[in-house]
Formats: sequence, structure tokens, C-alpha cells
Amino acid sequence: MTGKYTYREIDESTVYSELEDVFILSPQRLRDICKVFVKEMEKGLESDDCTLKMIPSFVTNRPTGKEVGTYLALDLGGTNFRVCEINLEGQSKVRLRAKKFTIPDSAKTADQSVLFDFLAESIAIFIKEYNINTENDINLGFTFSFPVQQTALNKGTILLWNKGFNCANSIGKDVVTLLSEALTRKQLKVNVVALVNDTVGTLMSHAYVDPGTCVGVILGTGTNAAYVESADAIPKWKGGPIKSNEMIINSEWGAFDNERKVLPWTKFDQQQDDQSTNPGKQTYEKMISGMYLGEIVRLVCKDLIERKILFGGMSSTEMDTPGKFETAYMSRIERDHTAELTDTKMVLQEILKIPYVAPRDRRIVRRICELVAIRAARLAACGVAAVVTKMNRVDTGCTVAIDGSVYEHYPHFDNRMRDALHELFGMFSENVSLQLGKDGSGIGAAVIAALADK
Ligand code: BGC
Repeated sequence: MTGKYTYREIDESTVYSELEDVFILSPQRLRDICKVFVKEMEKGLESDDCTLKMIPSFVTNRPTGKEVGTYLALDLGGTNFRVCEINLEGQSKVRLRAKKFTIPDSAKTADQSVLFDFLAESIAIFIKEYNINTENDINLGFTFSFPVQQTALNKGTILLWNKGFNCANSIGKDVVTLLSEALTRKQLKVNVVALVNDTVGTLMSHAYVDPGTCVGVILGTGTNAAYVESADAIPKWKGGPIKSNEMIINSEWGAFDNERKVLPWTKFDQQQDDQSTNPGKQTYEKMISGMYLGEIVRLVCKDLIERKILFGGMSSTEMDTPGKFETAYMSRIERDHTAELTDTKMVLQEILKIPYVAPRDRRIVRRICELVAIRAARLAACGVAAVVTKMNRVDTGCTVAIDGSVYEHYPHFDNRMRDALHELFGMFSENVSLQLGKDGSGIGAAVIAALADK
């Protein structure tokens, strides 16, 4: 059927109210979430056996901006895999050359050696193409953005995979050894000197230019945060005294509320979780990050289609297929300010192949996108607020460096987070400065490698 259809008699505003009941979070709800978040962080600092892993990164100093040197960096864990050459020039200046590689889907779920050989091969291509001198063994910082139990600055065992990765024979193994073995197989003279989470990298690279930075957040394919913790506040730390009395903690906040006690978990979130590669895990991440938002929208649309409230009950193979409603389409739809929502129609008709999309359908889908994204931004703000509260920085303030496609490109994400922070902190929210920390993960790995050299 390609022509118009008669709608089931249900008022548009009734549809909106139903959706709003499901997705809107009141200021009180934000406060409750934030409170539980702080408690969970404290628990995670006491013991490894907690939902929030609160992993000491072994990074105990922040940069001064004067660090110099040339380093390689690998950045694995977002949408793209990148190899970079980073030149720290001192005076907070950085030069970067980078090449993106696409990881074949097959390497994401095969034996670990397939993935690590691919990484080594990419480094070999980069070294050749950019004519990098490796005669004296070049140092490399490895940004590996998955949960890792760090045991030294350049050692850490893989705890679990997420974001669509699931490599066999890797859990419990040291990531640096896996990479170094692959580099040796390729006879590459590269030393892996630091293993870095992207949030730690983002914090450190931003601190290279703004010493007031004490939080690094990723809001991209996945989500997570790292922050500066006082060494005395980490009862589980058994690594001896820390000169600076500071430790950067990788919170792995994506796992927050895996127990489903406080987050507004809906039937759509449950459906998404059931079909994921890691059911029951990364609860908070699945409500916030780029890998999942589009899928939540698709599931809400499917529900309305089945109830004949949307598109006159007509679906398409695309709309019926998990993963086909990309988060990037949500951005496009939210950016569509035409009276007729023409671009929204284009996405739904041309890309998602819905046979007929009436103006009312376009408005409803747009509202779904808005509600899902607003919920994500408000939840992300709860995490930031919890970290700032945990650091006792609400009064004194701090800079939060944020990187990732959702924060950088999703329309209004930043403002929606700021609104929520204002609801949580009132006028003190002005003390929390959210700043885009672009390219942070790669540069941060180089900064950490430079500090390790000192
Ligand atoms: C990973 C984190 C990472 C975050 C952002 C999460 O899925 O567990 O280690 O920092 O994604 O890339």
C-alpha cells in the first residue's frame, strides 16, 4: 500500500502524553539517581566486587603542559580504530597525524589473535605511510576502551567486552601482552608503555591545556567517566603510598545500576538488552550512548506500529531489523526544522522504507527521538553530577572534558545536560564547566606515555 490510510482514532496529544510518562525524568528522579550513583562509587572504591568497578588507572600525576616528545597512540573502542603519531611540543601545544581504519566485523567476534594481528598490521601500514622512524624503538600509548583490571600503567587484564566486540580467548589476559605479541609477529619495533582508558586519556589531554580539568567523560558509542580521586579515599588500593596523593579512577560507569534499582528502565530498554551481545550488563550505557539510542527509538516505533498508531500499522524490513535505525538518523530528525518535516520524511521513507509517512507520523517520530535523547542527556548529567559531588567540587568547581560523537554531534545534547545540572545544583551548576575534549583519547595516551618517560 502506498496511498494514504485512515488513522486509528487516537489523539496525537494522547500519544505524546503516553510517551512522556515513559521517558520524562522529574528533577526528583534525577536527585534520587545521583544519590545512588555517589553511594555506588564509594562502594566500588572499597572493593573490586561491585557493580561500579572504580578502577585505579595507575595515572597519579596530571600534566603541566610542558611535556615534550613524539609518541604513537592506538585508539580502540569507539566507532573507528585510529593509529596516531602525536608530537607534544610543550607550551600545551600538540601536533597530531592520524589514520582511521575500519575493523572488519569478523575481527570483533573472532579469536583475539585476529583482532590484535589486525591492530599490528594497521600500525605497520601507518609507520610505512607516514615514514615513522622506529630505529630506536618508538613508545606507544594504547587507548583500549573496554573494562580492564589495570595492574600497572602498562598492564591490565580484560574483564569483559562490550559495544559489539566479543573476542574469544581474551578474558583475563593482559591486553598489552596480546598487542606486544602481535607486534613481535610483525617484527615491529614498538614499545607499549601505557594502557589507557579513553576517559583517562580525555581527562589527561584536556589537562595538558587546562590544568583545572579533573573529569574526563566519553559520550559516544559507549559511555564512561574518569576523575581525580584522593588516594586516601580508595580503601581497596594496595599499591603503596602515592606521592601526589592523587589517582585517576576509571569508574566504568556504563555498568551503573545493573541491578535495575533506580534507573527508569522501560520495556523498550529490556527488549534492547535481551537482543544485545551482553544482556544484563552496561545498563546505564544502554540508556545513554550512541550504540543504543537509535535502537530504542526503533523499538518504540515498532510498538506504535503494532498498535496501529504509527504509519497506519505499516512497517518495513528495515524498521523490523535491529540496528537499522541509527542514532545518526535521530540527529537528522531533531535537526529538521522544516514546517513539513521533509528530512524526517526522507529518513523514514527513503532510508527506512516506510511506504507512507503522514505529517502526523513525522511529528510523532520526532517527538520519540527528542524524548529518548532528552532522557539520555539528563541521565548523563546525573553521572557528571555524581562525580562532581563525590569529588566535593560542587562549590569550588571543576572542568569536565567530554568527548564522543553523541556529545559532539547530537543536537542540544550539551544544553539538555546543562539544564539537568541546573535542576540538580541550582546556581552552583555554573561551577561545573562542560567542555568538548576533542581527540582526547589518542592525545591523552601520548601525554601519559610522556609522563611515564619522565
Ligand atoms: C567501556 C569503557 C569506555 C566507554 C567509552 C564503555 O563501553 O566499557 O571502558 O571508556 O565505553 O568508550
